[in-house]
Amino acid sequence: MSETMSRPDWLSYSTYKLEKATISTENEVLLWFVFSCASLPPFSHNHSCHNTINAAAPLSSGNITTKMLQEPLEVDPALFDDEDSDDGYCSSLSGYETNTIISTALHEYLLENGRRYHTYYGRDKNMLPTDEIEQDRMNLSHELFLLLLDGNLFLAPIGDAPERILDIGTGTGIWAVEMAEKFPNAEVIGMDLSPTKPEWVPPNCRFDVADAERELMHDDDSFDFVHARNIGQCISDWGHLMSEIYRVTKPGGYFELQEIGGILFSDDETLAPNNPAKIWYENISKALTRIGRPPSMTEENMTFFLASGGFTDITASYTKHPLGPWPKDRTLKLVGSLNLVAGKTGYHAYGMALFTRVLGLTTDEANKICRECALDAHNKNSHIYSLYHIVYGRKPV
Ligand SMILES: C[S@@+](CC[C@H](N)C(=O)[O-])C[C@H]1O[C@@H](n2cnc3c(N)ncnc32)[C@H](O)[C@@H]1O
Repeated sequence: MSETMSRPDWLSYSTYKLEKATISTENEVLLWFVFSCASLPPFSHNHSCHNTINAAAPLSSGNITTKMLQEPLEVDPALFDDEDSDDGYCSSLSGYETNTIISTALHEYLLENGRRYHTYYGRDKNMLPTDEIEQDRMNLSHELFLLLLDGNLFLAPIGDAPERILDIGTGTGIWAVEMAEKFPNAEVIGMDLSPTKPEWVPPNCRFDVADAERELMHDDDSFDFVHARNIGQCISDWGHLMSEIYRVTKPGGYFELQEIGGILFSDDETLAPNNPAKIWYENISKALTRIGRPPSMTEENMTFFLASGGFTDITASYTKHPLGPWPKDRTLKLVGSLNLVAGKTGYHAYGMALFTRVLGLTTDEANKICRECALDAHNKNSHIYSLYHIVYGRKPV
């Protein structure tokens, strides 16, 4: 993991141990971080050292172990600066400022093909970069999705007073923030693998860093509305994710999934077999299939995911989602224009890791597919679109 990263060694080390450890509870995660971070400064080690560290026997081998046994560990005096906790404990778990410790280690990134990928939960979990370029693209795409839905953030009939709302794979958090503004009396939680929360957050909105494919860290029946948008390419175990979503949704509450479909259409036969966008989409599907994820999100599989998760009263709809500004319709022309701009970095963002890591293409080959796809959106003779799917369902009372 560490070879390709230009990170301070101590950070790679502490995170490495966490990933290798067998962790069954949140407390164990915290303990591993406390252990790792407490021992950071004195160590000088190289990459080969990493392989000698074993989660089950942390004191038994390698250069690091020797150093640990020789030098007494000093206690950080800052631990006792908290005036409210003179008994050695404070209201947070175990008396440590664990958020600070964890948030340091959560910032684990990989630089590849000119992009920055977040890797704390594993390099290949989210194949999209999370750098500023991608954050800009996500925010631009958000405006585009609002246009497609007539300004609506969602379509499910959740009523005027939802109390708790969860956004899974929240990205920059823009959807969660706007939901918090729309429902000031609701508590809105955005969760994501990556710590990319917005700078300005309304008081009724917060962000968690977690892997939705492991466990949603929330009580049963605790959300009126759960939402996820464009996480399709990241999820391998939809069955597990849906059972978790169902578990945390209140009886009578809703789950809504919005996804760009991975199939291209043209109503005037301008989608040639060698169309560059078609080639890009086909390669994406091929790579996703190879790593066991759905090759594309469709009305059929989205409906199936909700139904097999237990949701009922499922409603599926879609809008056409033009890749360029060719439509006559004013709104769709604007959507196509935004896609033209978003596509300048978006095809690269979605494509590079899948094409190079999964399909084994060279950086040049992968770049060419992404670049030609982005250029095709400028082609006035290419009148192509994909579908934007919105599927929602209700948890029975
Ligand atoms: C294409 S972005 C979409 C972001 C946001 N939903 C939006 O529509 O603007 C996909 C997001 O899902 C997150 N993600 C992927 N897999 C995840 C998982 N297992 N748990 C939590 N978040 C995940 C990624 O980190 C990324 O931010």
